[in-house]
Parts: sequence; structure tokens; C-alpha cells
Amino acid sequence: MTSGPTLGAAYRDASRRLADAGIGSARLDARIMVSFALGGPPTLALTEPDRHLSGPESARLADLLKRRERREPLAHIVEAKEFWSLPFRVGPDALVPRPDSETLIEAVLKYFPDREKSYAILDFGTGSGCLLLALLSEYGASRGTGVDISDKALSMAKENAESLSLADRASFVRSDWGDENVEEHYDIIVSNPPYIPDAHIEGLAPEVAAFEPRLALSGGADGLVCYRALAPRLSSRLAKGGLAFLEIGEGMADDVSSLFRKHGLKTLESIEDLSGIERCLVLEREE
Ligand SMILES: C[S@@+](CC[C@H](N)C(=O)[O-])C[C@H]1O[C@@H](n2cnc3c(N)ncnc32)[C@H](O)[C@@H]1O
Repeated sequence: MTSGPTLGAAYRDASRRLADAGIGSARLDARIMVSFALGGPPTLALTEPDRHLSGPESARLADLLKRRERREPLAHIVEAKEFWSLPFRVGPDALVPRPDSETLIEAVLKYFPDREKSYAILDFGTGSGCLLLALLSEYGASRGTGVDISDKALSMAKENAESLSLADRASFVRSDWGDENVEEHYDIIVSNPPYIPDAHIEGLAPEVAAFEPRLALSGGADGLVCYRALAPRLSSRLAKGGLAFLEIGEGMADDVSSLFRKHGLKTLESIEDLSGIERCLVLEREE
């Protein structure tokens, strides 16, 4: 079929359009979207540059490009994002998993090196389920609970648990930071709560400010509102000998540490992400 442009020409045109729309990763996004419009692997635009798009494929690409020009996140458009080398389905109902959050997974693996042991794992604010499911993929004998207040996020997390074949060890419950439906004590608690100060949200990239759920971003006036809510609840759900791994925003380590200390949890370590920003606090119960 030769009704549309070649993939090479479509890729060049898409790169130009996305660069004009102010997208820093224009070439990468263009390659992924051209390939996605044809239902092929993300490298298709490079490996088959002389192949022609069909009429329907051209129309599909035009629609995808319009959405990206309006700064809809690429992950929403292709409905997928990799986290911890696992494929997650994503969309507007839950935060797109961020590479920075993999710092929490690395930290858990460092403190709990025995992958064969059976741990009870809790994820406060599970969103897409990325933290809990990445941990269950590493700890094959463990089970876990993902908590969120958003029913839509919980549906997405359940869908991801199914598609990653982890649903038999993962349960998901609607709860306001564990006030209801969470009874047990957990060996490993992870949480990436919303921590953007409200006044900063409008200044974020349009992909985040206009398209990601406000409930997943908003940390109140000072960014610390969810940590304040979590501190007593996390403290009461941590098993003896258990550890909590908390994602924090840039510059928040001292404030969050002292907040949790008031609830009997002391900071064992503050771990930096790949950009050198303190990203994960490791907390243990004070005896
Ligand atoms: C920053 S997102 C993190 C999502 C996911 N864990 C990740 O790392 O990508 C925070 C999550 O906390 C949830 N959340 C906000 N307020 C909550 C509350 N009161 N109780 C439980 N979850 C809440 C949001 O719905 C959102 O899914």
C-alpha cells in the first residue's frame, strides 16, 4: 500500500512538529508515535524507513500528533510506561510511574536482600501499582496490599497486577491512608505520596500540570500535608523489625524526618536518586 508518506518522512515531519510545540524529546517521541501508529515496536520508524503508511495509519498518526502537540503525556497516548523494566498500562487516572521512584525499589532490595523470604508489603498511595508490583516481582514468596483513595487508580493497579501475573499475591483497597480496610502489620511499607506544594503545580510542565491527577500531585500549601497524615498511620502499621521507604521531594529530607520522628520513626538513611537529589528516606521504629 503506498497511499501515505514513508515512515522516514513521517518521522522527520513529526519530529519537526513536536519540536515546534516545545517538546524537548521531540525526536524520540516522534519515533515512538510513528511506530505506535502502525502497531509496531518502538524502533519500527528507524528499521523500516521506506515502508509507506496506509491511509488509516496516516489518520491515526495525525490524531496522535495533535494530542501530543497539546502536550498530552506520551505515556497517556501510547497507554504504556516501563517501570523497573516491567510494562505498566497507564492513563489519566493514575500518576505515570517515574524513574526516580525506582530509588525506593533499590533501597528495599538493599535492606531486604533475601528474595525468597515471605514479607507482607504495604504500598500507601499505590496509583498504577508500580511500587507494589515491582516489589512482588522481586519477592516471589511475598504478598502485598496497595492502598489508594482513588477508585480509578485502584482499577488501573488491579489491571496491571493481572497483566503482570501478580494478581494472586496483590490486593488493592480503597482507604484514606489506611484509616479503614487496613488491619495488618507490614514488614515493608513503601509510599510515594503527593508532595508538590500547591502553588508550584501550575508551574510544572503542561504534561504534568494539565494531565496528571491533581490528587496524585497536591501536597497542600507546603507539600507536607500527606506526610503529616501518613506519619501516625504508617507508624501503627509497621511490624516489629519492619522498615518504611518513603519518597520525598527535593529539599524535604529534614522536614519529613522530623515529622516522622514525632511518631516514633527514625531515619536510618536518606538515599539519593540518579540526579543526586535526596529521594528516599528509610525509616525504622524507635525502640
Ligand atoms: C504521587 S502518586 C504515587 C503513585 C504511585 N505509587 C507511583 O509511585 O507512581 C500518590 C498517590 O496517592 C494517592 N492518594 C492521595 N491522597 C490519598 C489518601 N488520602 N489516601 C490514600 N491514597 C491517597 C493518589 O491517588 C495517588 O495515586
